[in-house]
Amino acid sequence: MKIKSVGYLGIGAVDPLAWRHYGVDVLGMMPARANPGEGWAPPETAGNNVRVSGDGVAADGTVYLKMDERQWRIAVHPDSRDRGMLYLGLELDGPLALEAAVKELQALQIPVELGTEEDAFARAVTGIARVKDPAGNALELFYGPATDYLFHSPTPGQQFVAGALGLGHLNLFVTQQAACFEFYTRVLGFRLTDYIRIGPGARLQFLRCNARHHSVAIMEMAGLSGLQHLMLEVRNIDDVGRLLDRATRAGVKITSTLGRHRNDGVLSFYMRSPSGFDVEIGCEGLLLDDSWTTNEFCEGDVWGHQGLLEAIQQSAIGMMEHAARAGGKP
Ligand SMILES: [Fe+2]
Repeated sequence: MKIKSVGYLGIGAVDPLAWRHYGVDVLGMMPARANPGEGWAPPETAGNNVRVSGDGVAADGTVYLKMDERQWRIAVHPDSRDRGMLYLGLELDGPLALEAAVKELQALQIPVELGTEEDAFARAVTGIARVKDPAGNALELFYGPATDYLFHSPTPGQQFVAGALGLGHLNLFVTQQAACFEFYTRVLGFRLTDYIRIGPGARLQFLRCNARHHSVAIMEMAGLSGLQHLMLEVRNIDDVGRLLDRATRAGVKITSTLGRHRNDGVLSFYMRSPSGFDVEIGCEGLLLDDSWTTNEFCEGDVWGHQGLLEAIQQSAIGMMEHAARAGGKP
């Protein structure tokens, strides 16, 4: 299977409007056309059941945010508690690739469910199938995303580095890391870019599916499963700095100072999102070609990123507390 990119992220949150404020006023994303699959019709001709308000909020209260030409990249669905990541969309090339992917999963006896046209419409894509990784994360294989070319950041001049590279990268806490590694590499076709040892027998593995240094990183942490951080990339250090200014002014908790990672070269800071997981905002991420050699690296940062280890521990503690409050599994 060949995944082209991480296309979209779905989040379950108690207060999606808090996410709209965070996404628009801090991150500089744009409220998306809120109706998945919505066409070009102007509001007055769109029909009674279609809202075209421009506020990014769908009739069911879901907030949709966009960062490039794709109709949306992040959907925040109303939920009874802050569940973090609900699903992750992984892009395939087209209908034949989706058909082949489903057959491949079935041959491996991995449960997969081909979605209906309605399911695809709900994600503003053309075709969709659902599968879970061995840690239980819901993945959606899709092709044919809706593009509307309408991105204008509310922050003048800000651009995200997304498009064919996908929405950024995600660092996932996973159970059964060895099985997850096999699934992401052997089944989904991700490649191991590099890894860092974080203790005896423990490692953080960085996986890529296109030229971006990594789109997914996985690590085992205290039996938890879920999103630890989402990284969004902007063009340059001025965009990073201006975004840091906005986050500070808005009272967002900054969880790591500015710094530059050793392996992917990203210059970034981290902050807490309204959902409890962290958001990393960075620039200058490495793009790799086939000359890259998989390697172990021995040092997390060239400089800075003070607070990062504590932030990762805090994410784990936060997830455990959430699970305890919900009286169930993380
Ligand atoms: Fe990161």
